[in-house]
Amino acid sequence: MCGTVTRADEGRRVILAGWVNHRRDHGGLTFLDLRDHTGLVQLVFNPTHSGEAQRVAERARLEWVLRVEGTVGRRPPGNENPNLPTGEIEVTVESCEVLAQADAMPMGVADDALAEERVRLQYRYLDLRRPRMQRNLRARHRFVKTLRDVGDELGFTEIETPTMIPSTPEGARDFIVPSRLWPGHVWALPQSPQLYKQLSMVGGVDRYLQIARCWRDEDLRADRQFEFTQLDLEMSFVDEDEIFEVLETMISRAWESAFGMTLATPWPRLPYADAMRRYGSDKPDTRFGHELTDVTAIFEHCQFRVFAGAIAAGGVVEALRVPGGGELTRGELEGEWLQVARTYGAQGLAYLWRRGGDYEGSITKFLSVSELAQLTAALGVVDGDCICFTAGTQRVAATALGAVRMHAARRFGWIPEGQFDFLWVTEFPLFEKDPDDGRIKAVHHPFTQPHPDDWPLVRTAPERVRSRAYDIVCNGVELGSGSLRITRPEQQAAIFEALGLTLAEAETKFGFLLTAFRYGPPPHGGFAAGIDRIVMLGLGENSIREVIAFPKTQTGADPMTGSPTPVAPEQLAEVGLRLAPKAGSSAPGPT
Ligand code: AMO
Repeated sequence: MCGTVTRADEGRRVILAGWVNHRRDHGGLTFLDLRDHTGLVQLVFNPTHSGEAQRVAERARLEWVLRVEGTVGRRPPGNENPNLPTGEIEVTVESCEVLAQADAMPMGVADDALAEERVRLQYRYLDLRRPRMQRNLRARHRFVKTLRDVGDELGFTEIETPTMIPSTPEGARDFIVPSRLWPGHVWALPQSPQLYKQLSMVGGVDRYLQIARCWRDEDLRADRQFEFTQLDLEMSFVDEDEIFEVLETMISRAWESAFGMTLATPWPRLPYADAMRRYGSDKPDTRFGHELTDVTAIFEHCQFRVFAGAIAAGGVVEALRVPGGGELTRGELEGEWLQVARTYGAQGLAYLWRRGGDYEGSITKFLSVSELAQLTAALGVVDGDCICFTAGTQRVAATALGAVRMHAARRFGWIPEGQFDFLWVTEFPLFEKDPDDGRIKAVHHPFTQPHPDDWPLVRTAPERVRSRAYDIVCNGVELGSGSLRITRPEQQAAIFEALGLTLAEAETKFGFLLTAFRYGPPPHGGFAAGIDRIVMLGLGENSIREVIAFPKTQTGADPMTGSPTPVAPEQLAEVGLRLAPKAGSSAPGPT
């Protein structure tokens, strides 16, 4: 391979094939850099040894595909390139064959000539030639291979579940596939193999593993694609401790083999309620402190109406100390910073500066000397700080200030680079209220067990029920989720009731699972980790598109194939469909 020829090969005849990365003519000689995924090698064509080959080389253009035969020699002194593993040698070519020519390139394939993303995705096959993309693809391969190897060592069986299924309860929209043989009926692409992996437990599989492709029709972001890949696991006769240990083993071993970094295990566990209280997030970035402080007790009787009103309504006041925040201007705090808090639902963002031993800022006049003294003591305020506050329900006040904490972290450089803080967030709430229709719905899915202490609350106060659901979080990114499942019919019935589902409705939606559970289901639980997200993090990329060979754009299209595409009327008629394009919607293809 091009990148593997070294001084040890001096004097050997070699055959190399690859792409022309660079050409220069110099003093009667022609130099070509030939590239494959392993790297570059310098080829020399000279009138004595190369003959006809040199004439071929003189015609060669960037990205032509060549096959050469030649002899490895030392580069003349002074011509070595210490930045290349092949930098001490060159290959004097004796014969050269053009395997393919290339048109003028629409984009460069060197890492330092990064094209606009749309162009990169339109010519993804060229983008994949870039060394960085080659590195990403191969690291992903090693990651997945190690997951499989470790899974095998730990007694897991890999099972392929179907990808044309009835709808699964993961809470996103389904992609649907109309049925030709059953007109008027559809299949759904799986949002996850959830129900099938549970059925495999009833089937006595004991430890199920799948590198599973999942589909969800949701708005795309840097960490979301329509189709993505999960490490999907399910295990019988286990509790959280065993599930956590399996995942820590698999992920840390795969991480080491793919990214060459060791991860300390076991990972800390943080109950959801503590994560919200301390960080204002269910996926906290724990690489730095700067935690939130609940200052409700200090301001219970204060004159500042916003705080007093929130507290009187049963809410809280949350505070964040920003060391060095004394330099923040009113414009910044009431512009960008306020906007961050508002995006996460807060009505406003109150703030104080601490300068010259005193508090400054418009709300100071509403706060008593005693309240300010308690604040100083509670937060350890010193000169040069800024204190930010949100008020409202605990969830909104903490979430909004948690977002401000992340904003402050980027502004003041609190985040240590190159550090990976994996943790388990546990005891997620079992239910939440849908903000749109006020109905109770499952946070994870309706088969998740409640915390054993919270069964009595399922009927009386469902929103306070904790679950046996858990996430893996690293550096503020949710990498995966799982839970222990319900297998007892009477428990499942109680959960359906809390969700407002009649048994008849549950039967229609999940009847096949409930039926299976009548025939001796082993107790079981599992997990799914987002492989794209983990590999993105391990490689230091900021979008999962960088670790997926052929992703969609953020607007949900594929400029390379120009899809999604219109479809011929005959094809639609066969499956009994008529499409209704929106007026003015343009084609997603290349423009
Ligand atoms: P959940 O829905 O939390 O759990 O998904 C698990 C993990 O999959 C990844 N993920 C995504 N990655 C990229 N693009 C997306 N659109 C996307 N959606 C999810 C995330 C997420 O943490 N069946 C349950 C697991 C279980 O209970 O065993 C499930 O799918 O990293």
